[in-house]
Amino acid sequence: MFEQELLDKLSQHINYFPRKEQAILLCLHAIQDHYGYVPRESLRPLAELLDLPLNHVEQVVAFYDMFDRETPAKYRIRVCVSVVCHFLGKQELLKALEKTLKIKPGEVTPDGKFKIVPVQCLGACSEAPVFMVNEDTYKFEGEEKLNEILSRYT
Ligand code: FES
Repeated sequence: MFEQELLDKLSQHINYFPRKEQAILLCLHAIQDHYGYVPRESLRPLAELLDLPLNHVEQVVAFYDMFDRETPAKYRIRVCVSVVCHFLGKQELLKALEKTLKIKPGEVTPDGKFKIVPVQCLGACSEAPVFMVNEDTYKFEGEEKLNEILSRYT
């Protein structure tokens, strides 16, 4: 079961909607914010809270790449790999991140601080190539600027 603080947050989301299942995305975000990822063990208690079958909740988590089901990191760097960003410099962005952080996509830095997560369109195509650090969105403007941005996250 969930810790009281998280349970209060989930109940708040569930009570907001006319039908419990409508709160599923907000609840998954709350779980991810709490743990840094969506632990597998959290899915059954969430399904029970929402009165949904477990496999429904599992499918939702699997469908959205904004939910991280594996090793957590303090900061998730989501890199858009969709078509516009692909053609406007996604590869350079990934290379710069890999060089700076010394990790590959899907990996976490040894201090647990950063994780590179390739995702589909982040909805900011006019700024391509785009990446996000947790909830902050940035346009990739070269390695130097990237390092400056990353240094803000301590
Ligand atoms: S294609 Fe990258 S943000 Fe849309």
